Amino acid sequence: MAESPPQRRITAPDITARKGAAPIVSLTSYHAHTAAIADKYVDFLLVGDSLGMVMHGFESTIPVPLDLMIMHGRAVTRGARRALVVVDMPFGSYEESPAQAFRNAARVMKETECGAIKLEGGRRMAETIRFLTERGIPVMAHIGMTPQSVNVMGGFVTQGRTRDQWAHIEEDARLVAEAGAFAVVLEALAEPLAAKITAAIPIPTIGIGASAHCDGQILVMEDMLGLSPKVAKFVKEFGKVGKVIEDAIALYAEEVRTRSFPAAENTYKVKD
Ligand code: KIV
Repeated sequence: MAESPPQRRITAPDITARKGAAPIVSLTSYHAHTAAIADKYVDFLLVGDSLGMVMHGFESTIPVPLDLMIMHGRAVTRGARRALVVVDMPFGSYEESPAQAFRNAARVMKETECGAIKLEGGRRMAETIRFLTERGIPVMAHIGMTPQSVNVMGGFVTQGRTRDQWAHIEEDARLVAEAGAFAVVLEALAEPLAAKITAAIPIPTIGIGASAHCDGQILVMEDMLGLSPKVAKFVKEFGKVGKVIEDAIALYAEEVRTRSFPAAENTYKVKD
């Protein structure tokens, strides 16, 4: 039987072309196995710097180093064959200047073989987004609630709850699109503002806590699997994986203590 040809990997321009069409599906992913499982269901996987909180127990994304993003980015590009892989630029790796951003983003692209990077910020990052895209690095922008600014915002605060905030956020969206971002994450935004931005800009909006009006959705995989101890209001748990893990570990502990594991089928015999 002839082998089926390898599937083409989804690209950043493919995502842009989905504006206004069927919803774009995405999840975060930090390791090879879950990337391989998610690959056939999602359009892109984000190696989010949320991995610092989810996998490494940091209180925010601020301490995440670039090398850690690269290590997890490599794992995800090895696990996923079809989905576009986007790797987050961590705090301190891109804000200083377009040249600093290019140097670090190029390293991420070379060492992980991802198809795009993501960075946080609206108007203040527009010049950098243009600089990177003109030099071959597709950029996903991220506006609204930007977790790397947690210390300036005074917490993980929903944006656009009062109309006086809208013009500033709408302008952020317009400027990142004009600068060449191929898509923009809208995080924790009031519904009518997310709808207004989605209708106004020519690139896809990817919502996380930003309503069903966005062109696509993203969630942190561990949150939607039911593996995170605490989740935001905008998360729906589509599974109870934390409970499955706990039940399996409890059963293992019991079987070890009662010597019913390892059983004969888990044990090597001598070959006579
Ligand atoms: O780091 C992350 O997981 C993210 C998503 C919340 C969009 O940036």
